[in-house]
Amino acid sequence: QAWLRYAPLTGSKTGPPALPQSIIALNATQSSPVFTAGQELQNGISGIFNKHLTVSSSHSSASHAWSLVQRHSSRTHSERLLELEVDGFWLNVKGSAVQIVGQSDRGALYGAFEYLSMLARGNFSDVQLVSNPAAPVRWVNQWDNMDGSITRGFGGASIFFDNGVIVSDLTRAAEYARLLSSIRINAVVVNDVNANFTTIQPGNLQGIGRIADVFRPYGVQVALALDFASPMEFGNLTTYDPLDPGVIQFWDDITENIYDIIPDFAGYLVKADSEGTPGPLMYNRTLAQGANVFAKAIEPFGGIVMYRAFVYNLLDESVWTADRAKAAVDFFQPLDGQFLDNVIIQIKYGPIDFQVREPAHPLFANLLNTNVALELQVAQEYLGQQCHLVYLPPLWDTVLNFDLRVNNETSLVKDIITGKRFNRTLGGSAAVVNVGANDTWLGSHLAMSNLYAYGRLAWDWSLQPDDILKDWIQLTFSQDKTVVDTITQMSMASWPAYENYSGNLGEQTLNDILYTHFGPNPQTLDNTPWGQWTRADHTTIGMDRTVSNGTGYSGQYPPEVFEVYESLEKTPDDLVLWFHHVNYTHLLHSGKTVIQHFYDAHYEGAKTAWSFVPMWESLKGRPGIDEERFEDVLFRQNFQAGHSIVWRDAIVNFYHNISGIRDDAGRVGNH
Ligand code: GCU
Repeated sequence: QAWLRYAPLTGSKTGPPALPQSIIALNATQSSPVFTAGQELQNGISGIFNKHLTVSSSHSSASHAWSLVQRHSSRTHSERLLELEVDGFWLNVKGSAVQIVGQSDRGALYGAFEYLSMLARGNFSDVQLVSNPAAPVRWVNQWDNMDGSITRGFGGASIFFDNGVIVSDLTRAAEYARLLSSIRINAVVVNDVNANFTTIQPGNLQGIGRIADVFRPYGVQVALALDFASPMEFGNLTTYDPLDPGVIQFWDDITENIYDIIPDFAGYLVKADSEGTPGPLMYNRTLAQGANVFAKAIEPFGGIVMYRAFVYNLLDESVWTADRAKAAVDFFQPLDGQFLDNVIIQIKYGPIDFQVREPAHPLFANLLNTNVALELQVAQEYLGQQCHLVYLPPLWDTVLNFDLRVNNETSLVKDIITGKRFNRTLGGSAAVVNVGANDTWLGSHLAMSNLYAYGRLAWDWSLQPDDILKDWIQLTFSQDKTVVDTITQMSMASWPAYENYSGNLGEQTLNDILYTHFGPNPQTLDNTPWGQWTRADHTTIGMDRTVSNGTGYSGQYPPEVFEVYESLEKTPDDLVLWFHHVNYTHLLHSGKTVIQHFYDAHYEGAKTAWSFVPMWESLKGRPGIDEERFEDVLFRQNFQAGHSIVWRDAIVNFYHNISGIRDDAGRVGNH
């Protein structure tokens, strides 16, 4: 149930509010989102207040003490309705009279969830609220494979696939749709970006249709990741060249088949020419030519194509100017303006790969005539894989509120992805979520704050990380002040702590990058062709990404940002090793040397992680902290505390050994 528990209110001082006497889901047909809204209101009010309300689809009584939920129609009169945008809703609560009007069916359901969220948090105030989304694309990506495994999934097996086919029991998929709908996510890509052509074979497409059927009542659409080489792999063609007429026909036919089965299919996600996946470059076609084949096929049906910017080649570290971080701008910037209008370039928050800290991806500043979307990762691939508490919105915030100064004007990443900054009609975000069959969805109760926050932000990027968190805690646990304050404090301290005991100063996370992406293994970053280098030797460390002496990456940013990153003096400490190659004895703005910062930060971070254990223990028996969840979280916090020591000692010893520089505080090495 996650944040949709609708648990009876505990500790509420105000007592139950004037509640509606019945629910009208106006003109709702079975399985429509408005129908679902009626059911959800009924369940929610029953859970929170132990009060059973009837649901009807038409006005049946003269009383006005009802909750009316409906889609906007010409017969609903109110000035406020003129303010509604696609998927928006109007929530009008006046005591026991509640009116919820959605611009669409989906919007009506969002409004019902909003009302229930207020009630569940003990907020019984009257409101007149119009809420519209920041952007039309609010997707999640699942990296589920047809065999039932999930790439970088840490919450059990797939809820969609098993043994090459779609599972017969989709109860769990429907529950996932309910969660997503409550945070206003409107589409899910159900299969891994490293797609397998078997997903779109006829038998499986029927199964995907069944997934769409269980998602539809929640207003969540299905989307699919495509394998670029499918025309060859099962289309009996000898090529997958995107300009080949047979290949074009193949994709047209597939698209038509999909829409026959799923009329509201959302679109395609394409990972091509990346980490060994096939793509247009194989045939000397551009990425735009590749993307546009799908775009043309899907355009008549109103679908979109999310084309990933995560395209790069393996590199030779002995070349000082080689740099994986530059690849996306090198590939995509020359193609700006060549992508069709229903293509969106999906760009990870930073240019490497979901690291603990990265500068905002420079591609956001280089595509002024192309739709773009932000890719986040709720699955904590490099960030402790749900065994560590790491509340991600503060990390996302560093990118979303970063000002790229395009044309010397304010250009916040959050305004670029919504289309506002460059007047694009399409835009938004996708987050890699990877929930699985585990009861907790992500494998950890506390990790669910990241999914909740992602949805809330995708709707409104101006929300503050700690405000979202407080809502989530109240919905998930209780309104008890100690519970709310303690989990807020732990969560808000968690990303800085993780950064402290993993990779500092912008040198990346220092995980094992070859296989697990879990746990410290700094030696795996260098001497590989993967390009996640630190260039650490006995005296120096860091990637020189300057134009004057390095890879030239800093030159991919607009002039005002370039000037900061190009200069060692102006680059903020937390990104200094991302942009500069310096001595371990280089003095930071903080007044510490790089190496002393490493030592101190690791001790500091591990100490903070340790403090989470007694903090959590202090919540034992408090309202909403049931035994089962208490023990489950405690187990994980103990693990994190222990693992933070492993991290601390592995990293400080590694750098002490290669640099031979003593720790001023005498904690590291033999003194
Ligand atoms: C990471 C991840 C891969 C994934 C890739 C991607 O490298 O480890 O499993 O396929 O990102 O985003 O495409």
